[in-house]
Amino acid sequence: MTATEPVQTMPAAALATERLTLRTFTEGDIEDVYTGITDPDTQRWLPLPRPGAPYTRADAREWCLVLAPESRASGDGQHWAVVETETAMFVGSFGLTRTMWKAHSTEIGYWVAPWARGRGFATEAVIAISRWALTSLGFQRVELKAAAGNTASRRVAEKSGFGYEGTERNAMPLHRGRTDLAVYSLIPSDLER
Ligand SMILES: CC(C)(COP(=O)(O)OP(=O)(O)OC[C@H]1O[C@@H](n2cnc3c(N)ncnc32)[C@H](O)[C@@H]1OP(=O)(O)O)[C@@H](O)C(=O)NCCC(=O)NCCS
Repeated sequence: MTATEPVQTMPAAALATERLTLRTFTEGDIEDVYTGITDPDTQRWLPLPRPGAPYTRADAREWCLVLAPESRASGDGQHWAVVETETAMFVGSFGLTRTMWKAHSTEIGYWVAPWARGRGFATEAVIAISRWALTSLGFQRVELKAAAGNTASRRVAEKSGFGYEGTERNAMPLHRGRTDLAVYSLIPSDLER
């Protein structure tokens, strides 16, 4: 018989960038999360809450108060509500997930609310979180997977310094059909360039 290994978790970290504050979700974020996730462009690329099912305010409440906090406690990763520091405007949701502790590898995911897009916020947050994972937590690999046709997200990966590795074919369900995933990664040696 082997002893159960303790769950490894990320330290709860509030991060800050030049324009953004990355903090835990609160009850006050529920309406912004609901509006941001029900946006057609978000729904096109992220089939939330699950493929074919409509996203409700109850889903947004569960995300902010249960699922996001649980993701850290379970060892899966950590999720942040991102707000513009100067105005306190809700920007979007960013997180690390599918963490493989033994392989020192984790995956970054995100969405930005429609009112905050096109201002470089996704790139700014992805840079902060991925560098934090590599330099403060000692991860050896941060993966970023985007639907092959999601040009904006792929641009975020490129602008954040991630290297393109290839395509996982037919890898992700959408609300309608499935998509190939473009796979990117950031590893410590990328930061030296
Ligand atoms: C993808 C997403 C997070 C980008 O957020 P953002 O804050 O607007 O991103 P940034 O401003 O940092 O960068 C976006 C880049 O994509 C480009 N872009 C945006 N829409 C585009 C489009 N339809 N076609 C081509 N490029 C596009 C922008 O011009 C910008 O590149 P540039 O700085 O070289 O001009 C946001 O559009 C979103 O949440 N989309 C819906 C959900 C989603 O796709 N999440 C990611 C799943 S992997």
